[in-house]
Amino acid sequence: MLKKPLIVGNWKMELSHKASVELAQSIRKLIHQVEVKSDVVVCPSYVSLPHVSEVFANTSTIGVGAQNVHWEEKGTWTGEVSVAQIRPFVKWCIVGHSEQRALSGETDEQVFLKMNLLITHGITPIVCIGETKKERDDGGAIEKIMRQTEILLLHMERSHLMRLVVAYEPIWAIGTGSMPDPDDVAEVLLSIRKAVTMKYDEDIADRLRILYGGSVAADNVAKYISGPGADGVLVGGASTHPKEFLDIVENIQKAWDGN
Ligand code: PGA
Repeated sequence: MLKKPLIVGNWKMELSHKASVELAQSIRKLIHQVEVKSDVVVCPSYVSLPHVSEVFANTSTIGVGAQNVHWEEKGTWTGEVSVAQIRPFVKWCIVGHSEQRALSGETDEQVFLKMNLLITHGITPIVCIGETKKERDDGGAIEKIMRQTEILLLHMERSHLMRLVVAYEPIWAIGTGSMPDPDDVAEVLLSIRKAVTMKYDEDIADRLRILYGGSVAADNVAKYISGPGADGVLVGGASTHPKEFLDIVENIQKAWDGN
């Protein structure tokens, strides 16, 4: 299967339920102006998942994802949401986002459990990894990413790897407007692919989808896709503006076709 770009919009907790449904409707309306040659996914809050997935029910161009899930199938976990609860509404799910890791103390091991659970239930996990500013400044970025990648690949079956998406998000670039050098991003992505090649083979490493995330906008996205760049992006703030989000989709496709 030929690889195509993947663009994921992470709406975080930015919108009311009403605004989330309206945003979904606007994207649905505007998407016809773009020849979509990518996988495009939006991730609203849990409460809006049923309605947003209904908005996109009859379109094949936009998928819906959750922003998180619990690592256990069910249980006495007040306030948490299980994989079975999101499954009717999503094909995708973000896990290990740095904001969630910081908020709930989520560990790489828990992220690993979530990832496996999602794959078992036929949902594609979008697993976020990335370094802090201090780790980058101290020259420890690659080491941190390799450690996180190693945990992800632990006990991972080859067939499961084809269902996985990795999102490299330097934590210091999220919501700050301060972005990494595209060469540094390319170096990280290459290291992840090398680790996958070492454990499995080059074919599967090439097929693995790796996204870049952190302050992505329509006017800066191309440089992270061109050359040995990412297979797509995880977009936060800019994904809540329908026109900007679709411009990102278009600009990625242009950069992709130019590769
Ligand atoms: P940002 O967020 O695009 O607003 O920086 C990205 C993310 O948190 O995934």
